[in-house]
Amino acid sequence: MRIVLGVGGGIAAYKVASLLRLFTEAGHKVTVVPTEAATRFVGVATWEALSGNPVSNSVFDDVEKVNHVRLGHEADLIVVAPATADLLAKAATGQAGDLLTNTLLMAHGPVLFAPAMHTEMWRHAATQANVETLRSRGVTVLEPASGRLTGADSGPGRLPEPEAIFAAAMALAGATVEGEAKAQPATHASLAGRTITISAGGTREALDPVRFLGNRSSGKQGVALAAAALAAGATVRFLAAHMDVEPPAGVELVHVESALELREAALKAAADSDVVIMAAAVADFRPAEVSDTKIKKVDGEDAPVVRLIRNPDILHELVERRNAGGGHQLIVGFAAETGDAQGDVLEHAAAKLKRKGCDLLVVNQVGIGRVFGQDDNSVVILSGHGAEPQSSAGSKADVAAAVIDRVGAELTRVFPAV
Ligand code: CTP
Repeated sequence: MRIVLGVGGGIAAYKVASLLRLFTEAGHKVTVVPTEAATRFVGVATWEALSGNPVSNSVFDDVEKVNHVRLGHEADLIVVAPATADLLAKAATGQAGDLLTNTLLMAHGPVLFAPAMHTEMWRHAATQANVETLRSRGVTVLEPASGRLTGADSGPGRLPEPEAIFAAAMALAGATVEGEAKAQPATHASLAGRTITISAGGTREALDPVRFLGNRSSGKQGVALAAAALAAGATVRFLAAHMDVEPPAGVELVHVESALELREAALKAAADSDVVIMAAAVADFRPAEVSDTKIKKVDGEDAPVVRLIRNPDILHELVERRNAGGGHQLIVGFAAETGDAQGDVLEHAAAKLKRKGCDLLVVNQVGIGRVFGQDDNSVVILSGHGAEPQSSAGSKADVAAAVIDRVGAELTRVFPAV
């Protein structure tokens, strides 16, 4: 992918050197376009050495190559970090005083801004209006992280970590989710400062050292959820059971195998999470006995009978712990239903929402070759707080954006500001 990395004039420019490394190590061709002010913080030589490409910030260098037109046209993705208040204002009002602002006006692909500035500047009505304007034009503006700023002050305004910007950029270009350059549906929710635990994939329940009981979950929906949550500015803890796809970049990653391992990891991660999304397909049963050695067939003997026992219901346990602690935590379950003689998909799902006691239940209809491993999904989001059911269909990235939007809305409604 061809990426233009615009660097604004803020002290956080030094962190962008790490972001550049993440892009180049992932095999992308990066042209760095710093503003004049940015070069006071990190010099042109650093950007040239790290990107392996010449660096300029003037429209009057290499005029014959018409760089100010070419760069924006050719870029599959433009990332601006740190996006200063000044750069946001210039982009929102369409100014074209240097190579970066010209490039932004010529952009053909997705554009991502990762802001960094003092809290007052970020919260100022002028900056917020500029951010709104850019977002309304389809530009992704990440929420800044919270924490210690350059001076003695602290609050929202820190540049998100390079890994988080990288993950959001890849999600925006569709690289993580679809494996090809395709725009990620915009998430409108802001989850800055929130921590989300997401479980994904299918658990494997050992029978013996070589065999297990598993399921068809690919982990694709969980990866799409992580990408959408990162793009909304959240810190993501990702609990990966077995998956057919790579886990996302930019998350705190924990690998698990069985339902019991997932339970332990989920209870630990959830302890200080604002949101828990249980997208993993957890085996309800596990073999009662696990053989230490490979189970062998013996001629003349009957085939072994495998007795199963119940696994703990992790989602239910998470809800009970949350309720017991009186905690402000939003818990989202997934339901895979087929419908049967006792009821249709939605009837089963409504009963499950009640039984599990979670805040939202994302319901999809499954069957052989349906949903599991596919790139598209069609779900209904049920609320435990009385809101109308909401349908979402499309790619798993579309569904993830709808779920994360709903999580953002529900968080604000049920548990206003932490
Ligand atoms: N889940 C869980 N622990 C389990 C089983 C499921 O936490 N032991 C979670 C899943 O991650 C999902 C939700 O519960 O978020 C629904 O899972 P599903 O398997 O569809 O429901 P079940 O509880 O197994 O109900 P049923 O057997 O009626 O389908």
